[in-house]
Amino acid sequence: MSTTIEPESEKHALGQRMKRKEDPRFLQGRGRYLDDISLPGMLYLALVHSPYPHAKIVKIDKTAALAVDGVVAVLTGEDLAAHGLAWIPTFHGYDKQMVLCVGKALYQYQEVAGVIATSREAAVDGAELVDVEYEPLDPVVDPFQAREDKTILRDDRENKTNHIYHWEVGKRAETDAALAAADVHVKERVTFQRCHPAPLEPCGIVADMNGATGRLTLYLTSQAPHAHRTVVSLVTGIPEDKIHVVSPDIGGGFGNKVPVYAGYVVAAAASVVLGVPVKWVETRTENLTCTGFARDYHMDVEIGATKDGRVTALKVTTVADHGAFDAAADPTKYPAGLFGIVTGSYDFATAFTELDAYFTNKAPGGIAYRCSFRVTEASFAIERGMEMLARKLGLDPAELRLKNFVRKEQFPYPSPLGFVYDSGDYHTTLRKALDLIGYEELRKEQAEKRARGELMGIGISTFTEAVGAGPSKHFDIMGIKMFDSAEIRVHPTGSAILRAGTKSQGQGHETTWAQIAAEELGLDPQNIIVEEGDTDTAPYGLGTYASRSTPTAGAAIAMASRKIRERARKIAAHLLEAAEDDVEWADYKFRVKGVPENAVTMQEVAFAAYTNPAPNTEPGLEATFYYDPPNLTFPYGAYLAVVDVDRETGFVKVRRFLAIDDCGTVINPMVVEGQIHGGLTEGFAIAFMQEIRYDESGNNLNTNFTEYLVPTSLETPHWETASTVTPSPHHPIGAKGVGESPNVGSPAAFVNAVMDALAPLGVTHLDMPLTREKVWRACREAATA
Ligand code: CDP
Repeated sequence: MSTTIEPESEKHALGQRMKRKEDPRFLQGRGRYLDDISLPGMLYLALVHSPYPHAKIVKIDKTAALAVDGVVAVLTGEDLAAHGLAWIPTFHGYDKQMVLCVGKALYQYQEVAGVIATSREAAVDGAELVDVEYEPLDPVVDPFQAREDKTILRDDRENKTNHIYHWEVGKRAETDAALAAADVHVKERVTFQRCHPAPLEPCGIVADMNGATGRLTLYLTSQAPHAHRTVVSLVTGIPEDKIHVVSPDIGGGFGNKVPVYAGYVVAAAASVVLGVPVKWVETRTENLTCTGFARDYHMDVEIGATKDGRVTALKVTTVADHGAFDAAADPTKYPAGLFGIVTGSYDFATAFTELDAYFTNKAPGGIAYRCSFRVTEASFAIERGMEMLARKLGLDPAELRLKNFVRKEQFPYPSPLGFVYDSGDYHTTLRKALDLIGYEELRKEQAEKRARGELMGIGISTFTEAVGAGPSKHFDIMGIKMFDSAEIRVHPTGSAILRAGTKSQGQGHETTWAQIAAEELGLDPQNIIVEEGDTDTAPYGLGTYASRSTPTAGAAIAMASRKIRERARKIAAHLLEAAEDDVEWADYKFRVKGVPENAVTMQEVAFAAYTNPAPNTEPGLEATFYYDPPNLTFPYGAYLAVVDVDRETGFVKVRRFLAIDDCGTVINPMVVEGQIHGGLTEGFAIAFMQEIRYDESGNNLNTNFTEYLVPTSLETPHWETASTVTPSPHHPIGAKGVGESPNVGSPAAFVNAVMDALAPLGVTHLDMPLTREKVWRACREAATA
């Protein structure tokens, strides 16, 4: 089976497998990425990093660095302090972070100084010669140790504690009582390890202060250019009209390119002071050690159920490791992101979840790595919990899920933790997955293999996500509401330009945005050019991450198109010499009601808008729409993994993986499949290979791609995909987001499959990554027990 995501053939542009318009540019090496930008007189920045995870900075001597041929300047935290830039607010707004170390280094590789030079090489040479005297301090690496407050890491804060915040939602007493009364009860600590996005292109900036115009142009690998413009203005006091952010082609973001990093600030400050452009492009090691990490949640999952397998209560208690600063890129009201989705696809009568976050001597982050703000951690917790419950009850895990799913007729479904799920039909999707993969046959094969002592496992994950941040009454980042926008201008000859507040980093917006507008306007998607990422031209939006683009900007595009259609109807009535009320939009044309042959196309109307406008109407044909979604969208899926485990070597062979996704109306099935293939590959890497580990002394052990593994086509399994379509009732075209789904849903499917394989050995849970060594040890311990 390859793919079964079917196009909606009766549609004009929506649902069609259109090839990506951006790909010829990328495949021919003609993309324009950050490092392709070179400006006359440009200088280069290299950063100096702390070798210690926790140390006092006693002295910084710039002399040797400044003597290097080509070095122009060396900047330290104290230099930035003179410009009010020693500390900046974190995205989350509750905390602040040092740009360059002031007084203290709080994690290994933290940025201590910046060296500006006429070439990249000279800057690196200079950075090696900045002489920093450190006084090492005891590091705190473990959040459970940080909880004890024996060493306080952030002496800059008023509250002398490593505890950052407590967050809770749900009914504690009711949940505790229901758990105590439950016939069957499972409880397990499930850790989602610290991991890191691995975009092909690392982060970078070219900052260009133009002394003549007084404008600061920032070419930035930014997933959220407008938000970055506003933050720069708020932090520096530079009027926003004097700041121009341009986000060029971006080689992958995955949440990594949302926060503001030291290199950005130092390059921008250097350009302002020196009056020349300054470029900084980080190395892979800088990316893995200094920029936003993801996950690092230690979750105690507790589920109560009746004897016959009806779930009654869920409690999840989490300790979160936030590193040295609380830099999690979450909406203001949601310190733990959308973790409240932790009841998943199941109808729990009661639930409670609480979380405590701590500072440690590790890099900050907590970004939404291909995830709608902690939804991945939540999905992993509930899907592992349900698997353990099935085992304890002696029930088939598919049957347990079918027994407890929210039913189709319960939508819109108010979850016990505060969300209102928009739509879903979980039973149909899981049944389709079980049929497609041949579940019963696989269970028979497993029984035969087990009888022969072989280890085969089948893992299920039936996750629900909450994506599309978000409705302005609940969602903002640093006070900026999280709506999004589109502006469409139809040209006289019926082609168009569409600009949106989002910013593709590989998601194919140039294609899918054109498809939405083409469908609504009856135009050719090939002749609608899509522009994003330039704050001078694009309407204001909060950018692209957390699968928010389709639910927000995708909706704005449909609504802007409909606005254009309303204006076009007046012109059509004029051309058709009919009353406006007698003109209908049908079959992608304006027709006189009851006289379908009396019709004009949108192209004809567009031409008239500039050459023969209707009397008393505004000439031209364009519209802008800012869309404030009424709710999030709740895509979901049923994922099945089939594995064989070799007990002698610990090798896990993923034999099959089927992903059925339901993201409502599909704009482009081929783009959706691409999103799913990519996300599954990342989920596979997290399940089996990837972890940012620190040793007891706080040394980062995964600083490059020989230590932090990225799967190649040799390891990556073959992905089977299919879909069901349950449109969102509140989205103008019924679409939900999809980009994050495979990364959210797949880790639990892989782990559940391996744990199912190891069930005969009595192994209940192993934390990710399930490396060969870890699985082999578990097999060996079971054999010797
Ligand atoms: O915010 P981000 O672009 O990462 O995520 P998304 O909204 O899930 O969209 C990812 C890509 O999949 C975009 O090109 C969407 O237009 C496309 N997509 C689609 O074709 N149909 C859907 N129902 C959802 C997304």
